[in-house]
Amino acid sequence: MTAQNKIHIFDTTLRDGEQVPGCKLNTAEKVEIALQLEALGVDIIEAGFPISSPGDFQSVREIALAVKEVTVCGLSRAVQKDIETAAEALRHARRPRIHTGIGTSDLHIRAKFNSTREEILERAVQCVRWAKNFVDDVEFYAEDAGRTDDEYLARVVEAVIRAGATVVNIPDTTGYCLPHQYGEKIAFLVNNVPNIDRALISCHCHNDLGLATANAIAGIIAGARQIECTVNGLGERAGNTSLEEVVMIIRQHAHLGFFTGVEPRQLNPISRIVSDTMRMPVQPNKAIVGSNAFSHSSGIHQDGFLKNAQTYEIIAPEEVGVDSSKIVLTARSGRSALAYRFRKLGYDFTRDEVDVLYQKFLQVADQKKEVQDTDLQELAQVLVAIG
Ligand code: KIV
Ligand code: ZN
Repeated sequence: MTAQNKIHIFDTTLRDGEQVPGCKLNTAEKVEIALQLEALGVDIIEAGFPISSPGDFQSVREIALAVKEVTVCGLSRAVQKDIETAAEALRHARRPRIHTGIGTSDLHIRAKFNSTREEILERAVQCVRWAKNFVDDVEFYAEDAGRTDDEYLARVVEAVIRAGATVVNIPDTTGYCLPHQYGEKIAFLVNNVPNIDRALISCHCHNDLGLATANAIAGIIAGARQIECTVNGLGERAGNTSLEEVVMIIRQHAHLGFFTGVEPRQLNPISRIVSDTMRMPVQPNKAIVGSNAFSHSSGIHQDGFLKNAQTYEIIAPEEVGVDSSKIVLTARSGRSALAYRFRKLGYDFTRDEVDVLYQKFLQVADQKKEVQDTDLQELAQVLVAIG
């Protein structure tokens, strides 16, 4: 594995993730999550948007003081005061990064800034220069790059790299792109920006069409080497690329040749910590970290799973820090699952006994959504009473 194939994991749970309505964290909670993210092995923590509030400023400052090795990043607009404030908040960071940028789509240029492409290009270069006065590591974001004209985007990227940007972030801010379109956009930059070898390309994808993870993966296949993501896919509107998904896709598809520094066994624990601290429940069917991600409930799947787990699981639960898979008993379950659950309770019934029990089990299962151990104990007693 060569260093060129390392995918840098830029976690923005504490910035884009924290923008979710109803999810407010205090500084102590943010510091705790940052320490967990560092232990998880992410490369960069976007700790907040320091100019946005005194609380966010304080959180970025405290995180910069608390973590050891990880890069700490602060967001800013292409505004001098924002950049100065970000630099101040990052003053104690061992590895500080300022993330600055501006909208580059014609829609943003006209509607948000009432400006022109040429003026925006100048502002892009200017904000990188300001940030370079404070830190070496400057990431530039071209907001709404997903809907930005490729030729113009390439000019902006070339100019900001010349001004000293070390990372160029290509956000699909509105989650608009299809994976092949996003991949082609990254490939266009790789092939048309003469100084692109002097910076890392970053994917920052939103999930408005459910494509944030697919787009980020298309981005790295096309040449990007950083993914911006959040734990549990939290983020503005429908969220961001989910950290656990990209890490496990990269592991599962080792043939792509990529790797990350993330310790997969910490994925489930950190998902719980973030969900509990932010008070944002994880949907049960969420990939990797949802409560059903390793549950099997239909008879066909349960039978196959009990013969060989790999028939219905591409990831072993322990690999991502989940204790074990679950065989859930519902009216769709079969005899082998029922016998398995009885064995777990200490009953080793014969085939004929399981046949008898199965009919009674179906009656209970039709009434209840899920048959629990206490129901099984009662069923077992019925069999004992019949003799
Ligand atoms: O979605 C986006 O464009 C952003 C930028 C501020 C990086 O979050
Ligand atoms: Zn975003």
